[in-house]
Amino acid sequence: MLFRPALMSDIPVLLHMEQELVEAERPFDADIRPSGATYYDFDDLVQSDLACVLMIEDESGELVGTGYVQIRDSKPAHKHDRHGYLGCMYVAPSQRGKGLITTLIDKLTQWSKAQGVTDFYLDVYDGNNSAIRAYEKLGFKPCLVEMKLNL
Ligand SMILES: CC(C)(COP(=O)(O)OP(=O)(O)OC[C@H]1O[C@@H](n2cnc3c(N)ncnc32)[C@H](O)[C@@H]1OP(=O)(O)O)[C@@H](O)C(=O)NCCC(=O)NCCS
Repeated sequence: MLFRPALMSDIPVLLHMEQELVEAERPFDADIRPSGATYYDFDDLVQSDLACVLMIEDESGELVGTGYVQIRDSKPAHKHDRHGYLGCMYVAPSQRGKGLITTLIDKLTQWSKAQGVTDFYLDVYDGNNSAIRAYEKLGFKPCLVEMKLNL
């Protein structure tokens, strides 16, 4: 497998993977729009110096996964001024369970460390056990819990 930076020409594939991700998360959030739900600004992420978007490419050149880190300003109360926010973690169903996301996140954290960033955050739905397991294997622990109320 090749882990390479995303190009602007990858955006159609990224948009497709984003929709697969939306569908994977739909069972965990009844408030996701029935159609037209989007999460990311790939034009900005791919071109930004403050982000690294990686594509996973198999031996035949097929794109089978993606994920990004974006360096963001941290909350004033935090000891660190900047942190890496990880997003759009996606691996095609046929390639899951092989640890690809571990390698991808390792590469994203290495890139971030080279920018002086050593603290990382991500959002994951309670109940998305495959994703939670993948992140736990890397050392992530639950921190802030988002609560919601529909009136
Ligand atoms: C979450 C995701 C990126 C993990 O990628 P991955 O490369 O398969 O991760 P791993 O190989 O480390 O597997 C993580 C866990 O998934 C589970 N798993 C194993 N095979 C699997 C399969 N074929 N399908 C789904 N989950 C599987 C296992 O619990 C595994 O943990 P284990 O290694 O201790 O057995 C991937 O499942 C995915 O794309 N899911 C849909 C999109 C999504 O939910 N993204 C995360 C948003 S926060």
